[in-house]
Amino acid sequence: MSRIYDPTSKNIQKAAELLRAGALVAMPTETVYGLACDAANSEAVARLYAAKDRPQFNPLIAHICDLETAKHEGVFNQGALGLAHQVWPGPLTLVTPLAPTHTVCDLARAGLSSIALRVPAHPVARALLTAFGGPLVAPSANPSGQISPTSAAHVAKDMGDKVDFILDGGACEIGLESTIISCLSDTPQILRYGAYQAPDIFFAEQDKRKPDAPGALSRHYAPKATLRLNAAYPEGKEAYLGFGPALIHSTLNLSEAGNLNEAAANLFHMLRRLDETWPAIAVAPIPKTGLGLAINDRLTRAATRESISHD
Ligand code: TXA
Ligand code: MG
Repeated sequence: MSRIYDPTSKNIQKAAELLRAGALVAMPTETVYGLACDAANSEAVARLYAAKDRPQFNPLIAHICDLETAKHEGVFNQGALGLAHQVWPGPLTLVTPLAPTHTVCDLARAGLSSIALRVPAHPVARALLTAFGGPLVAPSANPSGQISPTSAAHVAKDMGDKVDFILDGGACEIGLESTIISCLSDTPQILRYGAYQAPDIFFAEQDKRKPDAPGALSRHYAPKATLRLNAAYPEGKEAYLGFGPALIHSTLNLSEAGNLNEAAANLFHMLRRLDETWPAIAVAPIPKTGLGLAINDRLTRAATRESISHD
C-alpha cells in the first residue's frame, strides 16, 4: 500500500494531525525531502533518529513558518537578522544561541545550547507548518549516510514502512540541501555549503576554516558504487556522469549546458540511477564556483570510503 498522498488541504490537515500524535511525515521542501516530526516531542524525535539509523549526537534542523516564530526558538544577532531577512523563506539554515522560550526538545538539538533554524520556501512545507502550528524537525528523508531524496518515490523506496505519511510535492526544485551558517558570534561562519550562495567577500575568511557542522566532513550522500571524481573520461566498468557539452559519451549528464543550477537539481537522482546498475561511477570535473562548491562538497563526501557520517 502506498503511503504517498497529494498535498490537498485535506491531506495536509491529516498530516498535521498525525504529527500532533507523534508520527513521522515526509514533506517536500525546495531543497530535498525532509522526514518531519514534532520538534517538541522527544519520543517522536527518538523514533525519527531510529528510522534514519542516525546517531543521536547529530542535531536536527527545526523548520519554522516565519522569522517571528523562529525568534521564540533562537536568539538573532544583527548578522542572523540580516541573513534571515534576505533569504527566508529559502534554502538557508541559521545556527543561533537557544532562546529561553524555545520549544524544540533537547534530544532534537543533541543537547546543544545552540539551535539550527530554517524557514523553507516550498508551499507544501509552509502549508504543513502552518497547519501544525509549531516547529518541525526534519532531516533529509533517507537512511543516515545515503543519498538525499528529491522525490516522494525516493522517500517511499528508502524509508519503507518507517515513514507514516508522505506528502508528494513533486521533484525538489533545487535538489541540494540548505546552506548552514553559524551566527553564534558576530561574524557569520559557513558550516555547510549548500543551495544558498553566500557572498564570497563576506565569508572569504571563514571559508578557509574547517567546516564544523557535526559530521560535515565525513562520508555522506553515498551511493553503493565507488565514485571517482574530476575524471576526464571513464575507465573499465565505470559509468560516466558528465557535466557540460558532451566531448565524450556520458552515461548521464548533470547539465549539457554547463549550468550549475541544473546540475545541482540533477545530482542526487542521477547518482541514484547510476547506482542501480553500475559498480563504479566516474564524475566529470565540476567548477568550484557558486553552486559548484556545494556540488563538489557532496561529491567529495559521497566518494569518501573511510568514515561513516550521520545526517
Ligand atoms: O535542506 C536541508 O537543510 C534539509 C531539508 C529537509 O530542510 N535538511 C537537512 O537536514 O539537510 P540534515 O539533518 O540532513 O542536516 C542537518 C545538519 C547536520 O549536518 C547537523 O549537524 C547540522 O545541520 N546542525 C544541526 N544543528 C546544529 C547546531 N546546533 N550546530 C551546528 N550544526 C548543526
Ligand atoms: Mg541529510
